[in-house]
This record gives sequence, structure tokens and C-alpha cells, in this order.
Amino acid sequence: MFDLTGKVAIVTGGNGGIGLGLARGLAAAGARVVVAGRNREKSAAAAAELQKLGPGGALAIEVDVTEQRSVEVLVRSAVERCGGLHILVNNAGINIRKPPHEVTLEEWRRVIDTNLTSAYLCSHAAYPHLKGAGGGKVINIGSMLSIFGAGFAPAYAASKGGIVQFTRACASAWAKDNIQVNAILPGWIDTELTRTAREQIPGLHDSVLKRTPAGRWGAMDDFGGIAVFLAASASDFVTGTAIPVDGGYSIQA
Ligand SMILES: NC(=O)c1ccc[n+]([C@@H]2O[C@H](COP(=O)([O-])OP(=O)(O)OC[C@H]3O[C@@H](n4cnc5c(N)ncnc54)[C@H](OP(=O)(O)O)[C@@H]3O)[C@@H](O)[C@H]2O)c1
Repeated sequence: MFDLTGKVAIVTGGNGGIGLGLARGLAAAGARVVVAGRNREKSAAAAAELQKLGPGGALAIEVDVTEQRSVEVLVRSAVERCGGLHILVNNAGINIRKPPHEVTLEEWRRVIDTNLTSAYLCSHAAYPHLKGAGGGKVINIGSMLSIFGAGFAPAYAASKGGIVQFTRACASAWAKDNIQVNAILPGWIDTELTRTAREQIPGLHDSVLKRTPAGRWGAMDDFGGIAVFLAASASDFVTGTAIPVDGGYSIQA
């Protein structure tokens, strides 16, 4: 039920943070993992680490997920070099923290393109290969801001709300092709992205600790298990969901 031997997975932004946590889970369960990011050194280091975790191995392919041509080259190279594609993880993301009246159009577009349009581009390019393989899995990364509002992150919240609806649309469209599409909604996780948030938002570190029933920030390795579940046959009747991985943050009154 949880064996990914023989499966090929692309993880966008798989070279660090939550993406690397997801990739570690997939590699340890036997998948061959394609680490897809912009930073070549970081991606090569991540692939070298993943290589040691399981029999499937890993490789790095450079991509800018905001560029259609770059995404198409990623998917084509992954299929050629690995012999197919079964799992797509749309994880790459950025945030620009400003109130709505201060966000420029360029900043708005950069966030939406990186967090939301990227998921469309990657899913669109991957779909024929997933379908051709007889089925597959798409895992999209949302956020607590898929659920809650936040005055400091309007474009990010819009992109992450959109990710949940895009997940449902794809799940509905592709169920007949045996492709399951689900979203993960991380709580507050200790990564590069939130290290800057802690610098920019006074009191954030302690308020997250206080509100999270688990009493801690999340870690990248909190994502290996959910990645394996959503990528494996264990979840074949699970589609269109948005699963919080948040230590209880979203259920706290
Ligand atoms: N940390 C949290 O608390 C938290 C909470 C909720 C949701 N999330 C979401 O989880 C995902 C991962 O975030 P993280 O916290 O792990 O942040 P991170 O450590 O900053 O990782 C972001 C990743 O996205 C990649 N990326 C960004 N722009 C890209 C582009 N144009 N093309 C290709 N890759 C790109 C980066 O790779 P390169 O540097 O190589 O480009 C990097 O690997 C994001 O979608 C984020 O919104 C995070």
C-alpha cells in the first residue's frame, strides 16, 4: 500500500524546506525523485542526499516554474530520463509580505505565477504522462492561508486559496483517468520562507507556539509521511481533499 518502487516523482522546489521533506519521504518509499528548482547547487545537493535514501535514486533538473517552456522541458526530460511519470508534487512557492494597498502589480503577478499558475503549468504538462501510465497522483501545497485571511499576505492568500479550488477541479476532471489530486495545507513550518517571516512579523514565533496544540513549529520531516500516503495506492479513493499538516493549528479556537 505504501510502496513506491518503480514510480517516478517530480517535486518542484524539492531542493529545500518542505519540498525536500516531501522528497525524502518519496525516496525512502522507493520512488525515483526528480528535484526541480532554479538553484542548481541546492538541487544537486538534495539529489545526492535523496540518492542514498532508497533504491529509486534521484536527479536534479533545473526549472523556473513560472515559465511554460521551462516546465515543458522539465516534464519531457524527466519522462525521457526516468522512463515515465507517476507523481507530481507542486510545492514551489514564495511570499511577499505587504498589505494589499502596498502590493505592486509586478509583485502580485510574481506570487500568483510562482504559487498558482505554476501548478496549472506543471499539471497541464504532466497530465498526458500520468494518464498514459494508467493513473497517477498530483499533490499540491496550500497553506493555512488557504483557509484563513491575513492582512500581510494578500497575493499569497489568493494563490493558496486558488490552489485548493484548482485541486478540486483537477480531482473532478481526472478521476476517470485514475489520477488522484489532493492538497496539503502546512501549518507554520521552520524553513527559509518562515525564517524571513519571523524577522518581518514581530511576536510571530511565540504566537505560533501558543496557538499550535502540538506546542512546536513544524519541521520539514513532518511531510514525508503525508507525501507517501498521497502518492501511494493507500490513497486511491482519496481525491480533491485539502489535508492540514499543522500540529492542530487550524482546529484551535
Ligand atoms: N514554511 C511554511 O511554514 C509554509 C507554510 C505553508 C505553506 N508553505 C508552502 O510550502 C511550499 C514550500 O515552502 P518552504 O517553506 O519549504 O519554502 P522554501 O524553503 O523557501 O522553498 C521554496 C522552494 O520553492 C522553489 N522555488 C521558488 N520559486 C521557484 C521558481 N520560480 N521555479 C522553481 N522553483 C522555485 C525554491 O527553489 P529555488 O531556490 O531553487 O528556486 C525552493 O526550493 C511553498 O509553496 C510554501 O508556500 C510553507
